[in-house]
Amino acid sequence: MNKPTITKIIKTQMETKDIKTLKFYYPGKMSPGQFFMIWIPGVDEIPMSASYINKEDKGITFKKVGAATSALFKMNKGDKIGVRGPYGNGFNIKRGKTLFIGGGTGIATITVAVEFAANKKFSSDVIIGVKNKKELFFENRLKKFINKVYVSTDDGSKGYKGFASDLTKHLLSKNKYTSVLTCGPEIMMKQILSACKDTQFQASIERYMKCSVGLCGQCCLGNGLRVCKEGPVFDGKTLKKIPEFGVYKRDASGRKIKFK
Ligand SMILES: Cc1cc2nc3c(=O)[nH]c(=O)nc-3n(C[C@H](O)[C@H](O)[C@H](O)COP(=O)(O)OP(=O)(O)OC[C@H]3O[C@@H](n4cnc5c(N)ncnc54)[C@H](O)[C@@H]3O)c2cc1C
Ligand code: FES
Repeated sequence: MNKPTITKIIKTQMETKDIKTLKFYYPGKMSPGQFFMIWIPGVDEIPMSASYINKEDKGITFKKVGAATSALFKMNKGDKIGVRGPYGNGFNIKRGKTLFIGGGTGIATITVAVEFAANKKFSSDVIIGVKNKKELFFENRLKKFINKVYVSTDDGSKGYKGFASDLTKHLLSKNKYTSVLTCGPEIMMKQILSACKDTQFQASIERYMKCSVGLCGQCCLGNGLRVCKEGPVFDGKTLKKIPEFGVYKRDASGRKIKFK
């Protein structure tokens, strides 16, 4: 069951100069926020959340950062990858008004969650935040199923000038939301959690993963939570009790890496 299935890439799409989507044949059900382990033969195997969930095919959207994502970036229609999963617990998307916030590549994970809410006719607002407008993606896709898409850029090149977390605070002061769901840089998600007060909160967390099925302990968070098994989506109550949330993560050898 946990062996990769070799599958073919059926479509590719450039989203920005260094963000790309690969769609591949992979039938089955999964929830927004769940992830796959993507095997690039001879290079590495890395975790990736789904950015498209269809009955017969799935998609991932990623930024070229290192060896594995650079190798994936070069792939085209017809090339083969290994896929295992889906793994973990996705977002619990409920009726009521939800504010979704995606930061950076976290926009990929949030978009498929917004799409799920829209298909259920749940009410939602969405913020997508990036450093500058050249890094923006999925804005048009989101506009197809939600009226108002708020954009924030750190440099003010499009939409609200400032951090997505500041725009979140502004929207929370003006509107009543049942829940806030987010995926993006951990510092951003921690600031959003502090702004939430009584509003329900869920965030998708990234930690270094090896087995992805709860066995190796590589992805542990706080007091023995495994991001691959109990996560990657955690609620606000849980995250408030975890001192390392928004402060540091661990690399492949267990060394602490502080978030900047
Ligand atoms: C549940 C989950 C979902 C993710 N979804 C996405 C996504 O939708 N889009 C996207 O662009 N990225 C996503 N990532 C991050 C992605 O896995 C890393 O960007 C990727 O592993 C980088 O690999 P690399 O070899 O290109 O870069 P490297 O140079 O090896 O690493 C760059 C950084 O990526 C992280 N990383 C590397 N290997 C792993 C690993 N095995 N597990 C976790 N983190 C790793 C490390 O923090 C490292 O500092 C997700 C991570 C997790 C845990
Ligand atoms: S990656 Fe092995 S326990 Fe989570």
